[in-house]
Amino acid sequence: MKKAFVKSYGCQMNAYDAARMADVLGAEGYAATDAVEEADVVILNTCHIREKAADKVYSELGRLRVLKGERAEAGHDTKIVVAGCVAQAEGAEILARSSTVDVVVGPQNYHRLPDLLARSRTKRVVDTEFPVEDKFDHLPARRTHGVTAFLTVQEGCDKFCAFCVVPYTRGAEVSRSVEAILAEAGKLVAGGVREITLIGQNVNAYHGLSRDGANATLPALMRELERLPGLLRLRYTTSHPNDMGDDLIAAHGAIPALMPYLHLPVQSGSDRVLKAMNRKHTGDAYRRLIERVRLVRPDIALSSDFIVGFPGETDAEFEDTMRLVRDIGFASAFSFKYSSRPGTPAAESADAVPEAVKSERLAALQGLLDDQRHAFNAAAVGTVVEVLVEKAGRHPGQVAGKTPHLLPVQFDAPAATIGTLVPVRIVRAGSNSLFGEAATDAAAAA
Ligand code: 5AD
Ligand code: SF4
Repeated sequence: MKKAFVKSYGCQMNAYDAARMADVLGAEGYAATDAVEEADVVILNTCHIREKAADKVYSELGRLRVLKGERAEAGHDTKIVVAGCVAQAEGAEILARSSTVDVVVGPQNYHRLPDLLARSRTKRVVDTEFPVEDKFDHLPARRTHGVTAFLTVQEGCDKFCAFCVVPYTRGAEVSRSVEAILAEAGKLVAGGVREITLIGQNVNAYHGLSRDGANATLPALMRELERLPGLLRLRYTTSHPNDMGDDLIAAHGAIPALMPYLHLPVQSGSDRVLKAMNRKHTGDAYRRLIERVRLVRPDIALSSDFIVGFPGETDAEFEDTMRLVRDIGFASAFSFKYSSRPGTPAAESADAVPEAVKSERLAALQGLLDDQRHAFNAAAVGTVVEVLVEKAGRHPGQVAGKTPHLLPVQFDAPAATIGTLVPVRIVRAGSNSLFGEAATDAAAAA
């Protein structure tokens, strides 16, 4: 049997795409493998969001070149595929830079992988044109394994933040229809999935065709999904503050399946920087938004993304970001040094912040965010929370799952609890995980 190895970088949407690529190849008779050295097809599903992410592709290709040579000596052919956002952004340039690559395929074209692989027998191929057909109409059924799953409901972005490549790599905002999403979700749940995370680059701008021919909003979509028998939890990511409408805020208090967790990137706390970033909101507008969300869902866990060292950012402007973080209090967050991306408006700016200053600011911000994360985790100790059990734990007899706040928990329980909700008393907060004990006699005794 032929084998395929898929490695994914970057965001959850890339992880979703990688799983769907494995489905496409699975339908062609390829078995998925975790061992790259035995793969007949190797796919790197790349990320272009920051310079470092894009650099990884070329160092990985260097290693694959050696591997491909070794396999060739042993009489095996290996096809190397570069997919994802670097493929979209660089296209044929990748073939020029790396002679090992056989296929370059963009995020909207991977349903054509079988054809591209066949064509690559005679000639190296690039497919990054935005196709007229919708890849989702051409993808085979998903093979599901896990308790949780991502489901792409929206792709692309029309926001054009000055630093970001996504509008160029993923194209304009497109929403899938409610019907297509319900069909995919129904199959996931039938396959044992209990929690679905709706994903999109700008998921709260979702406006897919509803069954009555109108446009459905994200909360309307979630109302349809929550009716699926067997589906216990819903999440969504990632969002833009300007698309947090009243109905979506209200949904956080009104849809029981929607978990109390919100990833809402703010990027900066400085109004001048936010303006230069073309974010079209202020720090105070973000604060007010969070206040309103907390009014309907006081226990919500907040998460965000931050960029330090955007061109021209002063010490005082960075302090505005620190102040915003202190004002709000985040359960978790991602923070990055600004990385100039070719083709974006900010890449034209002349007033780059020195690398050393960026490093200093990042360390200070991450220190603060880490303190907040530890405090949030520590506050869970002593409480009883519902854990959706996802898999076996690190040690025999243990299982692992997540709280409504998306915190990982390990506790002793039989494997039969996988896929169910178990009340767990949290006894200790480790650095990456909480530890607890089943809080019902039934689960403890089972
Ligand atoms: N430099 C640094 N961070 C970036 N992000 C997006 N583009 C850049 C860039 N050029 C960050 C943003 C975004 C997250 C996915 O990545 O914080 O929300
Ligand atoms: Fe990276 Fe953005 Fe592409 Fe996701 S969509 S893989 S974050 S460049």
